[in-house]
Amino acid sequence: SSAVQPLHEAFSDDFLVGAAVNPRTLVGSADLLTLHFNCITSENEMKFERIHPQEQTYMFEEADLLVQFAREHGLKMRGHTLVWHNQTPDWLFERPGGGLADKWTLYARLKEHIDTVVGRYKNDVFCWDVVNEAVADEGAELLRDSKWLRIAGDEFIAKAFEFAHEAAPGALLFYNDYNESHPVKREKIVTLVKSLQARGVPIHGIGLQAHWQLRSPSLDDIRAAIERYASLGLKLHVTELDLSVFEWDDRRTDLRSPTAEMAELQEQRYEQIFRLFREYREVIECVTFWGIADDYTWLDHFPVRGRKNWPFLFDEHHQPKPAFWKVVNGI
Ligand code: XIL
Repeated sequence: SSAVQPLHEAFSDDFLVGAAVNPRTLVGSADLLTLHFNCITSENEMKFERIHPQEQTYMFEEADLLVQFAREHGLKMRGHTLVWHNQTPDWLFERPGGGLADKWTLYARLKEHIDTVVGRYKNDVFCWDVVNEAVADEGAELLRDSKWLRIAGDEFIAKAFEFAHEAAPGALLFYNDYNESHPVKREKIVTLVKSLQARGVPIHGIGLQAHWQLRSPSLDDIRAAIERYASLGLKLHVTELDLSVFEWDDRRTDLRSPTAEMAELQEQRYEQIFRLFREYREVIECVTFWGIADDYTWLDHFPVRGRKNWPFLFDEHHQPKPAFWKVVNGI
């Protein structure tokens, strides 16, 4: 109805409210997007394999489309992502004769990539997820195994931030990760970020992906993570928020709609986490959902292929869910 208060207006004194978009949702959800959100992130279009699939080939068309939309509608834009172990083409790590490239070749390619991509969007993208998911979930190792690590050692992280800063000195540069509220991983992320700060690496913030379920992580763990990251003197962005109706080990595939219990829990949880985010408005600058409405979410294919999920504040018909009203009014 016309009386709906825009989500971003409800938080105009607190933080930006964003959504991840792609060229399809940009068209299919344009009305919701421009009414309720004031920031977008490219869901896949700026990832390495999409924007730079071969050494001599850049494909800017889709990313440009999103940037153009943001410009036309006065939305801020986050860039996602420059260095990741996924959705990155093999050529980047290879040498012509076969085998892995040496680290100097990797750095030269990375610098060229960052100069080109970050430079191209420097007037439109205010913030970059420079390094995504580099910290290991399990075990004693700080960093996850990847071709980045095998070729260059842990120095690739600092290099990426330095290159990004050179390409766009005004951009905010973020380290972004998931399981960010888990106490063990949280401390690893803190260790990594502190070591970057100690070396004078240009890093301005931490991204909490916030791919959460209805019962986990606990609100206490989320609060502890926010406190701990904020203590480093950095900005925080919630970068990929969604609340899956399935707990992680729930592999059911037979639901056609969320159960009443799921809907109820999701409502309460959305209310609680937005109340928490608002408490930390001094450090949280942006809260971005990893999608717009329940008709499309990456969770429809992850972690179970082809299983529908309903993680957002707007339903499959783009109507506000009860959770929306809780978030907007219930504070
Ligand atoms: C996901 C996209 O949503 C999917 O479309 C794609 O197939 C895989 O990547 N963490 C991230 C995001 O940082 O880039 C991921 O996006 C979701 C998990």
